Amino acid sequence: MAVAELVSKCLQARDMAYCPYSKFPVGAAILTSGGAIITGCNVENASYGLTVCAERTAIQRAIAEGHRSFTAIAVTCDIKDRFVGPCGACRQVLVEFGADWDIYLTKPDGSYKKTSLKELLPLAFSPADLTKN
Ligand code: THU
Repeated sequence: MAVAELVSKCLQARDMAYCPYSKFPVGAAILTSGGAIITGCNVENASYGLTVCAERTAIQRAIAEGHRSFTAIAVTCDIKDRFVGPCGACRQVLVEFGADWDIYLTKPDGSYKKTSLKELLPLAFSPADLTKN
């Protein structure tokens, strides 16, 4: 997989954002273990708290399409001068499907910084923690 393709898809997804209230478009593209790319954008609502982030739109779409195993996600917004990470809620939703995610924080010009879910969400609470002794 070329990272460039994943990055390009998250930039395209950002253009689909529905964000009339924040005017803060976000795009995400998830790479499955099988090599498929599933995208998402933020979807806002007049009842603001019902807004869904781009990352969660993408993962819910991926699950609904039958994917369960993921290796990477690229995320972008309109901020040009720094790399912006996924919100805490989205980190938690990602770790539900494993901690071994590469995360590509992407600027509008397509430049990116590679990090990981383990780095962004240390000591995560995950499904394994529900196991009782
Ligand atoms: N947003 C995302 O889509 N992903 C994040 O990780 C952070 C925030 C969206 C939610 C809202 O539509 C807008 O960005 C401003 O918070």
